[in-house]
Amino acid sequence: MTKVSPSLLAADFLHLDRDIEMINRSEADWLHLDVMDGVFVPNISFGFPVLEAVASKCTKPLDVHYMIVNPEQYIKQTAKLGAMMMNVHVEACRHLHRTVQEIHDAGMKAGVTLNPATPVSVLEDIAADVDMVLLMSVNPGFGGQKFIENTIGKVQRLRQLLAQTGSKALIEVDGGVQGETAPRLVKAGVDVLVSGSYVFKSKQPEQTIHELRNL
Ligand code: DX5
Ligand code: ZN
Repeated sequence: MTKVSPSLLAADFLHLDRDIEMINRSEADWLHLDVMDGVFVPNISFGFPVLEAVASKCTKPLDVHYMIVNPEQYIKQTAKLGAMMMNVHVEACRHLHRTVQEIHDAGMKAGVTLNPATPVSVLEDIAADVDMVLLMSVNPGFGGQKFIENTIGKVQRLRQLLAQTGSKALIEVDGGVQGETAPRLVKAGVDVLVSGSYVFKSKQPEQTIHELRNL
């Protein structure tokens, strides 16, 4: 079964309480939290005060996606939230191997994230050490963007690289995941679908989550 990690970025921020209750009731496997700093990406989302409030209410494992420079500065604070997965961009980490080790030492699973233009080959020497690879299927910074088609082939290339390196990492895809792209991603070998606007803007979000999980 495909895991689904709805992205809170598309929730109604005036009714976070209500939207997190919906997530808790739903079959969502995780909750995806997008942190942006206005430097690594051209947008700012939310930071620790909001993450702490969300963590206190959400019963699902937290899948935190940092679109920030120097994410290693926030490993301890992220662990303190009780996050399950900490995703950092390879483009934002000067010493990725050390950062992955530190995430593990802090008791979390480590995810590495690739921008659309970053080839999967950069993971050759780190793939075996990570728990997840997050492929961006849009340029990070905004919800509701159009899916980049190249991602389908990229998932297949990543699947091969994981097999070659003996890595058990999960493959997660983020951006433009909806009714048309999700089945093709699952067919290509994706383990975890992140979906923001398609879930939160749908008439029956719980049903949409159910359908994504059962593709
Ligand atoms: C984009 C974020 C995504 C975003 C996905 O920078 O990383 O998680 O919320 O939104 P949709 O599913 O609307 O493309
Ligand atoms: Zn994300």
